[in-house]
Amino acid sequence: MRVGLLTGGGDCPGLNAAIRAVVKHGEGHYGHSIIGFRNGWKGVVDGDVMPLRREHIRNVLPVGGTLLGTARFHPHAGNGGLEAVTATLEAERIEALICIGGDGTLHAASKVAETGVKIVAIPKTIDNDVEGTDLSIGFHTAVNIATEAIDRVHTTAESHNRVMVVEVMGRHAGWIAVTAGIAGGAELVLAPEEPFDIDQVVKFLKHRHRAHANFSIVVVAEGAMPREGSSMDYTTQVGKYGEIIAGAIGEKVAHEIEQRTGFDTRVTILGHVQRGGSPTPTDRILGSRFGVAAMDAIASGRTGVMTALRGETVELVDLAEIAGKVKHVPMDLLRTAQTLA
Ligand code: F6P
Repeated sequence: MRVGLLTGGGDCPGLNAAIRAVVKHGEGHYGHSIIGFRNGWKGVVDGDVMPLRREHIRNVLPVGGTLLGTARFHPHAGNGGLEAVTATLEAERIEALICIGGDGTLHAASKVAETGVKIVAIPKTIDNDVEGTDLSIGFHTAVNIATEAIDRVHTTAESHNRVMVVEVMGRHAGWIAVTAGIAGGAELVLAPEEPFDIDQVVKFLKHRHRAHANFSIVVVAEGAMPREGSSMDYTTQVGKYGEIIAGAIGEKVAHEIEQRTGFDTRVTILGHVQRGGSPTPTDRILGSRFGVAAMDAIASGRTGVMTALRGETVELVDLAEIAGKVKHVPMDLLRTAQTLA
């Protein structure tokens, strides 16, 4: 059987572990041929293929990024994209396609599946906001990086008696902000799940600095926003595709804090540092488990599904049910971050 494989959307650590598992299990156990598409859905539309055999996946486990390349590309956005996908899959005699991606790639996967293509999806995104799975590939590594960054910022904040604002990724959900905020001991965490009141932020910081501390760490997700009607004038900054611009809210929050408190304040935008470098063992293991499960799903005739971690087990969930949905941080986790302020 010829099985296609692509990685789409933003890259993250752990993708190569999933690719490796698909190739090793597909070729070694089932005797399949694995055909890689370069640069996500764009490679399928363009017919940009590369063979994936065991020799292509040696020593890739500790390597970040994706050996297939990736792109933010939506074949269902018109201009004959879906027809081009079908034409390439026919030309390459692909019988099933494994798509590793986040919300955009999986939404595209569900649209392509509607045309009759047999698809198994694997969730990845450092944002951890794919619905239906407890964990997505890349999140664990990103939280490690963000936590280490907060630890580092901590010592310099304390030495200089400063407020440090640390902006982390997460446009629609605050998973990195909340978990790294807890792990790094941040005083405040601002996440998209709960619009903040800048007056409350300022009141809290003034009280803390008067009562018992001379420094503070404020972690802000890039999609955090002020509560409607609050005294901070801010319109979310978006790019040409409507995507939230990194750095804007972090800079604004830091500016407002400094203006309103008089405390020396600095901002650190972690940005793509969170997506780079070697994956943690957890992400390598998760990618490996999802890769094996995706291959087994195809072998057992289960397609139109996504591999998902539910508790300790990997299960299959219907792609149509989760595509286009955002998994938000639950309130109890958010409260833990706020309680420990
Ligand atoms: O892949 C998810 C993500 O890292 C988000 O956290 C972030 O908002 C976005 O991608 C950045 O995208 P790009 O790499 O296209 O700037």
